[in-house]
Amino acid sequence: MDAYELFERHVNPGLAGLLRFTGLDVVEDHAEGMYVWSKDGRRYLDFLGLYGTLSLGHRHPRVVAAVKEQLDKMPMSVRVMISEPTALLAARLAEITPGDLSMTFFGNSGTEAVEAAFKLARIHTGKPEIITTERGFHGKTLGALSLTPKPEYQDPVKPLIPGVKVVPFGNAEAVAAAIGPETAAVIVEPVQGEGGINIPPDGYLTELRRITAERGVLLILDEVQTGLGRTGRLWGADWEGVAPDLLTSAKALGGGVMPIGAVVGRAELFEPFKENPLIHSSTFGGNPLAAAAALAAIEVTLSEDLPARAEETGGYLMQALAGLQRDYPEFIADVRGRGLMVGIEFTDADIGAIVISELAARGVLTAFGLNNPKVVRLEPPLIVERPHIDEAVGALEESLRAAREMLSGVL
Ligand SMILES: Cc1ncc(COP(=O)(O)O)c(C=O)c1O
Repeated sequence: MDAYELFERHVNPGLAGLLRFTGLDVVEDHAEGMYVWSKDGRRYLDFLGLYGTLSLGHRHPRVVAAVKEQLDKMPMSVRVMISEPTALLAARLAEITPGDLSMTFFGNSGTEAVEAAFKLARIHTGKPEIITTERGFHGKTLGALSLTPKPEYQDPVKPLIPGVKVVPFGNAEAVAAAIGPETAAVIVEPVQGEGGINIPPDGYLTELRRITAERGVLLILDEVQTGLGRTGRLWGADWEGVAPDLLTSAKALGGGVMPIGAVVGRAELFEPFKENPLIHSSTFGGNPLAAAAALAAIEVTLSEDLPARAEETGGYLMQALAGLQRDYPEFIADVRGRGLMVGIEFTDADIGAIVISELAARGVLTAFGLNNPKVVRLEPPLIVERPHIDEAVGALEESLRAAREMLSGVL
């Protein structure tokens, strides 16, 4: 039995079916930079980048070298001594995050970062309620899922964590109206990723900061997907110069080599650890290997000025996509993005599925937003260059042409 069949039988038959449907029932073998090679020797241009994780591309040499060095020294912390890479990383995060965020709790994923933020907010305020946004995506463990208002994910596991209010995204007034005496925090993505690359109106984050500060409510910015340069700034918050009380990071933080999640916050929010150091903990969170990867990832991101590159190449990509929207108005309803966090909204989710599979057949990887199947997102590594964009856009144009031919008798 090959790996596909084993996966289908022992891991996730539904996902295996979905991958077959989009022509990606392919076994991956190795990867480098912008490309992934399958076991059968085909090369794929990665325009998904593990949902925004691979900002440095696959196997960035500086991250790989840092991880190998740490691997040969001590990959795991014993936890009853101090891990130097972990401490260095926390200090580095304090330097590069907005405002006076200075303390970090480490987990291994985005959802763990959100769980920690959720708990810290409740512990600090002594209040239960969190306000989240429609189409927001914050992860799938029970706490984070409670903040991710999608019935397909939430309904089967109800009851969820109580005390969550949902308001429309991009509407600061709705947040102001929802805040009550029991509200601990508001959590929001600077740009919604899984919800379909939704960009809020200018001034939204500033308004949220003003309202939450005025009302004594914490502001949590979930930068798991937007962080480390994806939107053309180091943090999504930097577009408006806003400093939250808590900021979550994961995905790109591990440099595309190691899993890591972090919530960085104001010192005040970490006071409970003084009294009870194990009030929240994780065996693996911020382990030396992951911390070494993150330290290297931050240095590469800054020294190669990847946020600026993301803004520049993102603009080039958006311009090309706008041209395709003009040429294929029956398929493309909207093109939107910030930096290299780009979404193409199709007139129908089925058209999006056809285009994803046509792209795969032409060796280009993309995917739907988890919370919005009409939107195909493009989140290539920030190291992408114009010839890669030309290659992907060329394949997209061919895919749209193929879809038009396929559907000419149907529509
Ligand atoms: C904004 C945001 N928060 C949290 C998560 C959850 O991250 P993870 O899949 O690492 O648990 C995601 C994942 O896509 C995300 O985009």
